[in-house]
Amino acid sequence: MKNLKNILQDARKNHYAIGQFNISTFEQLKGIFGAVNALRTPVIIGTSEGEAKFLGIEEISALIKIAEKKYKIPFFLNLDHGKDLALIKKAVDCGYSAVHFDGSSFPFEENARYTKEVIKYARKKSVLIEGELGAIKGESGIHQKKVILTEDDLTSPEQAKKFADLTNVDCLAIAVGTTHGMYKEEKGIDFERLGNISCLTMKKFLVLHGGSGISEEDIKKAIDLGIVKININTEIRLIWRDCLEKKLRENQEETKPYKLLADIKDAIQKKVEEKIRMFETRACK
Ligand code: 13P
Repeated sequence: MKNLKNILQDARKNHYAIGQFNISTFEQLKGIFGAVNALRTPVIIGTSEGEAKFLGIEEISALIKIAEKKYKIPFFLNLDHGKDLALIKKAVDCGYSAVHFDGSSFPFEENARYTKEVIKYARKKSVLIEGELGAIKGESGIHQKKVILTEDDLTSPEQAKKFADLTNVDCLAIAVGTTHGMYKEEKGIDFERLGNISCLTMKKFLVLHGGSGISEEDIKKAIDLGIVKININTEIRLIWRDCLEKKLRENQEETKPYKLLADIKDAIQKKVEEKIRMFETRACK
C-alpha cells in the first residue's frame, strides 16, 4: 500500500490535495470510512490533542488499522497541533502516520529546535512531520467576529525557506490568511504570499489550515499555488451537532444511540465526498 509521503508527492505533481478531516466520535469516523470506501481515495484523519485524548491514542490507532484491512485502502492518522512532546511521542509509537508539531507560539529558533527534536524521534519510525510557522489563529467553531490578523501573524516566505532548510521538516503549516473556524465574512487567502512561500520551499508539502468555509474557487487557486493538504474540522463538528439536535428534537422518546446517530454518519460521508471532489483527490491505484 502507498504511504503518505508517496501520496503527497503525487498530489504535488498532479495538482490536487489530500483532505485532513478531524474527528472525535465514532460516527464521524464511520462517515469518513464510508466516503473513502465509496470514492477509493486517500484521506487523513486528524485528531487534535483534545480529540486524541478523548478517543484514546491507542484506540483510534487500532481502529484505523482495522479499517485498512477491511476496506483495503490506506488510511492516515495525523496528530493535529501537537504541543505536548510526550503525547506526540505516544502518537508516533502507536502508529500515527504523521504528527504536526505546533511550535508557532515560540520564537523562530526555539520553534525550529523543538521541531528538529520531534523529527529526530518520528522519522526513525517513518512518520511524517508537519511543522508550523506563523500564527494560525482561531478555534474550530462558529464565530460572530472575524479574527484580525497582523503582518506578524502571517508566514514570511523568507522565514519559511529558512525554517524548511534548518529543520528539513516534511510538511509545513503556513499562515496565509485563513483562521480556524467559520465566520460571517469570508476567509481571505493571501495568494501572493502563498505563491512566494511555495517558490521558496519547493520540496515541502504545504498545508492549509482553517479549511472550513473556504470557497471552491479559493481552494482550487490555493492548490494550484502548491497546497497539498487541507485541514477541515469546523464543518465536521457542525454536522455532528446540527444532525444530533434535529434528531433529538424530532424523536423525543428515542433512546437508541444507533438510531439517533445514523444520520450523522451519512451527512459526514456526504460532506467528505464533496470535499474530496473539490480537492480533486485522485483515487488510489
Ligand atoms: P477549520 O476548523 O476551519 O476547518 O480548521 C481546521 C484545522 O485547520 C485543523 O488543524
